[in-house]
Amino acid sequence: MQYTRLERSGNVATITIDRPDALNALNDAVLDDLAAALDALEQKDRCLIITGSGSKSFVAGADIAVMRSQNKAEAMAFGKKGSDLFRRIEALPMPVIAAVNGYALGGGFELAMACDIRIASESAVFALPEVTLGIIPGFGGTQRIAKVIGAGLAKEMLFSGRRMKAEEAKACALVNAVYPSETLMEEAANLAGRIAANAPIAVRAAKTAVNLRMDADMDADLDAAMRLYVSCYETADQKNAMTAFVEKRKPEPFEDR
Ligand code: CAA
Repeated sequence: MQYTRLERSGNVATITIDRPDALNALNDAVLDDLAAALDALEQKDRCLIITGSGSKSFVAGADIAVMRSQNKAEAMAFGKKGSDLFRRIEALPMPVIAAVNGYALGGGFELAMACDIRIASESAVFALPEVTLGIIPGFGGTQRIAKVIGAGLAKEMLFSGRRMKAEEAKACALVNAVYPSETLMEEAANLAGRIAANAPIAVRAAKTAVNLRMDADMDADLDAAMRLYVSCYETADQKNAMTAFVEKRKPEPFEDR
């Protein structure tokens, strides 16, 4: 696993996404390594923490340099890989805590929402900037965000792509708590330790019970959302915006084609 680290302390496992030179952006290899880290989890792991390496970024999204040149079929394959993986995280038997240590943008925000609980550093920044790139979230974020922060705020974030800082994320219950960067992982370990000390059968049952309502129709909705995601590819606006990001410049005005 080149891009993820799996560590254990007692009954608590921590997966760190580790691609700091691209702010932990998700390409195929990172997604594969995240899947491999999940494969390596064991029944004795009673709580999982997911975080990003470094103090600047949790995950800065899916890899724009990769998505830029994708056709619809490639976008479907890549989107489905991420979406299925995040669904798998959501359905893990043990509780999952996202320790959001900086940017959680696009696919990074979507990953945090697939976790059961989010805590953040004071430097955390959340956004779904996909519409500024000519696409929509492809890893299930459109299906989760309204459940997490309510439909009105969710749509504002989706349609505007604007950023939300940690303080606002706490105020709208996107995150449960905000801590200084230096103590975030200690606080995550404390919370995970408290969860892991409880009766595992009961904790797993509690997670499954809460997710019953949230899971209704989720798989069909994720499929429909994936088709909408793919419909944004091979458009002039998608190529324009993603090429501009890679070339570190502003995109040309969008043309609706
Ligand atoms: N994809 C690919 N590379 C990325 C990346 C991404 N999502 N985010 C950051 N990087 C790379 C940058 O290209 C840069 O690489 P180089 O050093 O080789 O030039 C490196 O990480 C550092 O980034 P910056 O120089 O841009 O750092 P910054 O501090 O100036 O800005 C940032 C940080 C605000 C996070 C900025 O990098 C940024 O806006 N990144 C893109 C965020 C984004 O739009 N994410 C959504 C992607 S779409 C998505 O996720 C779709 C989906 O659901 C499937």
